[in-house]
Amino acid sequence: MSVAEIFRTMAYGPAPETADLVNQWLDARGRNFGPYIDGKFDKAGATFEVFNPATGKVIANVAQCGRADIDRAVAAAKKAQGQWARQSGFERAKLLYALARLLQRHSRLFAVLETIDNGKPIRESRDLDIPLAARHFYYHAGCAEAMESLVPGCSPVGVCGQIIPWNFPLLMLAWKIAPALAMGNAVILKPAEFTPLTALLFAEICDQAEVPAGLINIVTGDGETGRLIVEHPEIDKIAFTGSTEVGRAIRVATAGTTKRLSLELGGKSPFVVFADSDLDSVVEGIVDAIWLNQGQVCCAGSRLLVQESVSPKLHRKLRDRMATLRVGNPLDKSIDVGAIVAPVQLERIRLLVEQGYREGAELYQTECMLPVDGWYYPPTSLSGVAPASSVAQVEIFGPVLVSMTFRTPAEAVALANNTVYGLAASVWTENLNVAHDVAAKIKAGTVWINCTNLFDASSGFGGYRESGYGREGGREGLREYVRPASPESRRFGAAPPELVPEIDRTNKLYVGGKQVRPDSGYSFKVGSVDFAHGNRKDIRNAVEAARAAAGGWSAATSFNRAQILYFLAENLEAQRASFESACGSADEVDATIRAVFALAARVDKLDGSVHPVPMRVLTYTTNEPLGVIGIIAPAENCLLDLARLVAAAIGAGNAVVVVPSPTNPAPGVEMYRLIEMSDVPAGVVNIITAPHPDVVPTLAQHEDVDAIWSFVPGLSAAVRADSISNLKQTWVADLLDATADEMLRRAVQVKNTWTPYGA
Ligand code: NAI
Repeated sequence: MSVAEIFRTMAYGPAPETADLVNQWLDARGRNFGPYIDGKFDKAGATFEVFNPATGKVIANVAQCGRADIDRAVAAAKKAQGQWARQSGFERAKLLYALARLLQRHSRLFAVLETIDNGKPIRESRDLDIPLAARHFYYHAGCAEAMESLVPGCSPVGVCGQIIPWNFPLLMLAWKIAPALAMGNAVILKPAEFTPLTALLFAEICDQAEVPAGLINIVTGDGETGRLIVEHPEIDKIAFTGSTEVGRAIRVATAGTTKRLSLELGGKSPFVVFADSDLDSVVEGIVDAIWLNQGQVCCAGSRLLVQESVSPKLHRKLRDRMATLRVGNPLDKSIDVGAIVAPVQLERIRLLVEQGYREGAELYQTECMLPVDGWYYPPTSLSGVAPASSVAQVEIFGPVLVSMTFRTPAEAVALANNTVYGLAASVWTENLNVAHDVAAKIKAGTVWINCTNLFDASSGFGGYRESGYGREGGREGLREYVRPASPESRRFGAAPPELVPEIDRTNKLYVGGKQVRPDSGYSFKVGSVDFAHGNRKDIRNAVEAARAAAGGWSAATSFNRAQILYFLAENLEAQRASFESACGSADEVDATIRAVFALAARVDKLDGSVHPVPMRVLTYTTNEPLGVIGIIAPAENCLLDLARLVAAAIGAGNAVVVVPSPTNPAPGVEMYRLIEMSDVPAGVVNIITAPHPDVVPTLAQHEDVDAIWSFVPGLSAAVRADSISNLKQTWVADLLDATADEMLRRAVQVKNTWTPYGA
């Protein structure tokens, strides 16, 4: 018998990890847990049961926290936060460092508890969840120390409400708590109701690390407890990871408030395989992509897109490999696939697979023996799936791979982007040209080239589109937990209507590079001047023109875009007389020219960075435009703000639809000519003058607009509410405080690309 044959036929014996340590820990606490508030554990009032998914048995009872608990946690956090923020970065770093050390010291207890609570294989909790959680605390200890140089002049947000899911309970806790604390905030964290136990163990190590009372509060409960956190008026920021559905509900609940919000939501991430890739590596990649944590991973590579010529071969290899996957007791160290977190999740997976089968997919499941107790689902593949079928579109969140084929790179990109999500993607090819071209064209916050599911604290993680916004990790993640510095700014005020000048021509709208008559044929008066009265149809035309221009414009080089901004500023200077009369202030024209110059200067310096991840993987950040931005300009600084908003958005590579202030639209109208003479491509800037109620809701609701910037105080709540359906990014703060750098940062989203190397 050859060594290869021995290797293939060798059976695994059981290698179970003991649960003794965890049972002792649970028993010592009577298997009953209250919340951790103001530095101590409270007695639990009403409780709910927590189960071990591997056995279906109850392992503990945990408090269902209500309004009074949240109020106490918020009061404690507020009290603790001021003092914490005043401590030096060094002092904060020491505490985060102590938490990292304690996580490592108790790593076995954490890993076994995580596996018992969640059902994930011990290999994963031991080798991935716990070490990465500790790494997050180490990394952010450094960020606390270096805060002043990493986010100069910024201050903490305040009290943060953090709501996490059940798929990576301790890791998600670390992703939330470490950056918040590093930047001087206090937190109230709610673990998911299926998996609250490692968060409670973490609360105990907070005591050991002498975390100041109230700085970290752990409140347990279901979605209702989450809702109380989201709606609490004294919480300054909400950070949420979970389903897109709940993310949307949180957008609704926070729409009328000043709360900061970051959302890390679902995904349906493409796993793209080109014919020239190393298919054996691809198969191992797929195993990691979709069977890690039973596929209950937000960035799971759940959609396999294979180049047609190698599809039969790859599927054959994949089935052979699937037959070797071991499903069973997650405490067994040689298990590949553990238990599904809860019966409701198992049922959801079953129903979706049945639906996929009914819709015509070819179903393949391994013939493995599943344990009788507990909640298990076999590794499954659905091939020959139609791109529009439900299993190709809906997040299954289970060990189910769906696959389809493509012929050309362009078709691969079209299929990859054919979902509402944009969390991650994995691209496999030996051709670096193809890899980087496709990686750049896929709309996703993370792209892995010839690898998958790699994470590190130094590299920000988060989504595009309906996968949410905001980043966790890296320098970009720190920005979620600070307020930017406020520069000395000056208000020029709004020109009163009687000062709005006569403009000696018929005012029109500006769409697709042309002055066009409004659809209604009407105009509205400001002082004695008539302005074109745009309506819903004009907004739709403008969005269409912007979308058509966005692709080409984003592909222009940043050098080219910077030159166009300089040209805009130069032409503004040349036309200063008309702009002076449009805004009523020579000083404001000066300030506008300076502001556009400042933005032009920075556009080609919007560089990314290379993250020093602790592995041989080149991991770099690029800043990509958001796409189409709707801009509702303020009445104050009617020229300055209009110009710098447009300059920032287009400088970063976006196309815009702008609604100038209806109390003085004159600077907007003057801008047509400026745009025309400055070589801005048609459709990149579109301007619709109209009273707000006639156009703003349509713009905010439009499904093809990616972000909305609105600086009209009375409109903020409505704009936020109207832009929920496709989870647009919104920026509705006071513009006065924004530096050129901050504006450009608002105009981009971060993509991280990972490429392993080694000869
Ligand atoms: P979920 O989104 O309901 O739960 C996530 C967290 O949000 C939990 O802590 C929950 O208690 C809390 N929550 C629920 N309703 C809330 C509300 N109205 N306000 C504030 N907090 C609230 O996720 P669920 O129900 O556990 O799973 C359903 C599906 O969501 C999964 O099948 C999967 O498709 C997706 N999911 C995606 C995750 C991701 O990381 N992208 C994580 C978990 C689930």
